[in-house]
Amino acid sequence: VRAACVPPRLAGRRVLVSAGPTFEDIDPVRFIGNRSSGKMGFAVAVAARAMGAEVTLVAGPVTLPTPAGVRRIDVRRAAQMRDAILSELPGHDVYLGAAAVADYAPAETLPQKIKKSGETLRIDLVRTADILAEVAAHPKRPRLVVGFAAETQDMEGYARDKLLRKGLDLIAANDVARAGQGFESDDNALSVFWRDGRHDIAHGPKPRVARDLLALVADHLEAKA
Ligand code: CTP
Ligand code: CA
Repeated sequence: VRAACVPPRLAGRRVLVSAGPTFEDIDPVRFIGNRSSGKMGFAVAVAARAMGAEVTLVAGPVTLPTPAGVRRIDVRRAAQMRDAILSELPGHDVYLGAAAVADYAPAETLPQKIKKSGETLRIDLVRTADILAEVAAHPKRPRLVVGFAAETQDMEGYARDKLLRKGLDLIAANDVARAGQGFESDDNALSVFWRDGRHDIAHGPKPRVARDLLALVADHLEAKA
């Protein structure tokens, strides 16, 4: 067979990707966010599309252009991201949760701007739903569920704990304490863990790291078929 006749490795597959931060509104002018740029998740969507997949990208508030050929759904809060992902889930073969979802959100969003008064201010926060764990436990669970883990210490220990606790197939961990990778960076390095294996993706530009990750995803999809 000539190389040109080989179908792309994710042809016919449907891939759902979450990307970016979430913004949890406190009042009309303030929110709780995080330093995710969305670049890794967008690079993952581009890589999946380049490998022939039909890609749905659920994006938090980011300033990135929509990749060509990718269906994009914009959301702001963790609760909106959860609703979008759960309603898109049926029919997808792979979920990659690259979004940095807020773990806590203000108990209420105030309709008026908070006025300054007193020396301290307390805001009650409540836990958000864990979208990734819900996807992995869902009756319409994609064949492969891939989590990300941002860690500043004991990367393998915490990543493996998330893999087992959330019922994932793969988890892609990055050491955000290392300079020049992860949040607000154009580069990344990932250590990918599964129940009985590990694969390290070398430090480099996010598009290349994303392609290496999707190649590993394709391997695992084929092995699971
Ligand atoms: N995640 C999610 N929903 C949440 C929180 C996290 O879907 N409410 C997903 C992220 O998209 C990522 C993975 O869980 O794929 C791991 O996120 P991370 O923040 O590293 O882990 P947590 O489980 O939130 O634990 P902690 O922040 O305490 O380390
Ligand atoms: Ca978290």
